Amino acid sequence: MKKILVVYYSRTGITKKLARSIVDFLSADGEEIVDTKNRAWLLWYIRAGRDAALKRQTTIQRMISNPSDYDIVCIWTPVWDFAMSAAVRTYLTMYEKQLPASLIFFCTQASSWAETAIQEMANIVGKKPTTTIVFSSKEISRDSYQEELKKQLIQAWIFID
Ligand SMILES: Cc1cc2nc3c(=O)[nH]c(=O)nc-3n(C[C@H](O)[C@H](O)[C@H](O)COP(=O)(O)O)c2cc1C
Repeated sequence: MKKILVVYYSRTGITKKLARSIVDFLSADGEEIVDTKNRAWLLWYIRAGRDAALKRQTTIQRMISNPSDYDIVCIWTPVWDFAMSAAVRTYLTMYEKQLPASLIFFCTQASSWAETAIQEMANIVGKKPTTTIVFSSKEISRDSYQEELKKQLIQAWIFID
């Protein structure tokens, strides 16, 4: 039985909701990446976009899990200004050497730029993800999003060794 870790950052809870359902579905370990910067209010929203666009890192809380203990690591970010969130950029930079060969990158977006964020994630870790899954706000607003997510995950699994 493969050991699976799901790590995710979520500012408003959408990515977290999806990531937690994957954790249950895969019987995986899950851990949230916590950005120590307050990103809640409008001003911080603008700052978040600027951090992402300028490819800045942030400070994240110490993680409990070690990705090298797992066979598969799923990393999930919301798209921020055509890029990944600052917290996920920080996580990838810190842990790139400990990541296993089997990686799944997930992106949550309002509508666009997930591919650019995923490419950037791959550049940081220096390898292509085994597979990628993207979800938009429109898809998440449908009642059937959980089934769709599971379907995509099962399809993605054929690429995993
Ligand atoms: C600062 C910022 C920039 C964003 N930029 C984009 C973008 O370029 N493209 C897009 O489709 N969505 C963008 N979004 C929307 C988020 O990716 C989307 O709402 C996502 O589902 C939020 O996930 P969360 O609830 O886990 O934080 C942006 C959100 C924020 C906060």
